[in-house]
Amino acid sequence: MSEHVMGNVSQLDDPFTALRQGDGVLDIDDQGDPVKMVLGLKDVRKAAHSWQLFQSGAIPGRIVVPSEVAIRDVRQLPFELDPPAHKGFRGLLEPWFKRPAGKAYQDKLTDIVSIMFDSILDNHTAINKRSSPEMVTHDAVKDIALVLQSRALTVLINVPMTEAQTWINWGTHVFRSDDNPLDASKANVLYDYLDEQIAHAKKAPGEDIYTELLHAEVEGKALTEEEIKGIMILTFAGGRDTVINALTNSLAYFSENPDALNFINEHPENLNSAIEELLRYFSPLTHMGRVATKDTQVAGHDVAYDSRISLCWASANRDESVFESPNEVNLTRKANPHVAFGFGIHNCLGATHARALLRIWVGQLAERVARVEVVEADENTEQWGEVARKVGFHKLLVRLHKRA
Ligand code: HEM
Repeated sequence: MSEHVMGNVSQLDDPFTALRQGDGVLDIDDQGDPVKMVLGLKDVRKAAHSWQLFQSGAIPGRIVVPSEVAIRDVRQLPFELDPPAHKGFRGLLEPWFKRPAGKAYQDKLTDIVSIMFDSILDNHTAINKRSSPEMVTHDAVKDIALVLQSRALTVLINVPMTEAQTWINWGTHVFRSDDNPLDASKANVLYDYLDEQIAHAKKAPGEDIYTELLHAEVEGKALTEEEIKGIMILTFAGGRDTVINALTNSLAYFSENPDALNFINEHPENLNSAIEELLRYFSPLTHMGRVATKDTQVAGHDVAYDSRISLCWASANRDESVFESPNEVNLTRKANPHVAFGFGIHNCLGATHARALLRIWVGQLAERVARVEVVEADENTEQWGEVARKVGFHKLLVRLHKRA
């Protein structure tokens, strides 16, 4: 973690270049359980595709890096399942998670984003009555991204907007506290909350995801409460840091690339390709693990039975053999086969929601904001063995200057 003010806040270096071009892998130690990170796009895709060889359905928590085995017994679904079991749960969830493609859903996200910009750009806040709204600083992590992410999640799981405040109060991490990367007591807050929500939906069924899951069947069998919890833990955890990183990195990017903001404002037809490119460049989720089901190989290296590999989406997305000028942001990049949302059967279920939110967010930012000024930045840097990767920010103080 490093504190710094201004200068290069938008830059996300690729720390894997030399290793990807060399061995194609990075060996790291995670709590005494080694992980071979796979770095090239072709190798990542191949391993993701080979679910028979590299499974997700190991003991709960083991495919996550750092491993959550010590703090979690509940299996996250459909993420920690392999075919054929994966298919039933995925099939059940897909229609629900595709709702963000619809207009009514996107209108709700548009309202959420508009209210955020109105409050930043148009209102005098009580704390700073004498200065103009645009002189007020906002922590983009806590006061913008976490709030938007939480409010948007109420739309995805179809619960009242008031629930968002509870989730905002949890802070930016569900499984982490400031001094502990794996905090079981923190995870229990989410588990207890989910128990209450499921109990409530049983007593008073509604239109929410809990009710939907309580009445659903997979292969002719009703879901157990443990399974419902497994789906919901993933929904809360999977879409939290990732979305927050994407939102804050976009502010940092536009703060140092005002022309790009003007370009999107003048040519909004490029929003889709811009969002895909920002996702490739930011790669909000660095990697995800798998466990070998037998002695095998990955990227030309031996992998022993029951040992772990990880699919490094962040490195794959900078693979110079696939992407021209991979370390440059090209908002009109044509072919963009990035794997920011993963690849193969486990590709991100929340992608339709995340893309819709990011499109609306960047669209309104370009329309309403002339300049993003970063006042202070505290970077969030992950350490993977010898490699440090910046993934977002712990804190990003910004001022937003309104478009005339
Ligand atoms: C920019 C935001 C996001 C990024 C970059 C991202 C990234 C990913 C990646 C890389 C995977 C593949 C994991 C693997 O292969 O093991 C994944 C899976 C998943 N994501 Fe996301 N995610 C994002 C947002 C969300 C949101 C908003 C939700 C839901 C609220 C979500 C829910 C899931 C679920 C349920 C899976 C597992 C799907 C399966 O196993 O079939 N994600 N995500």
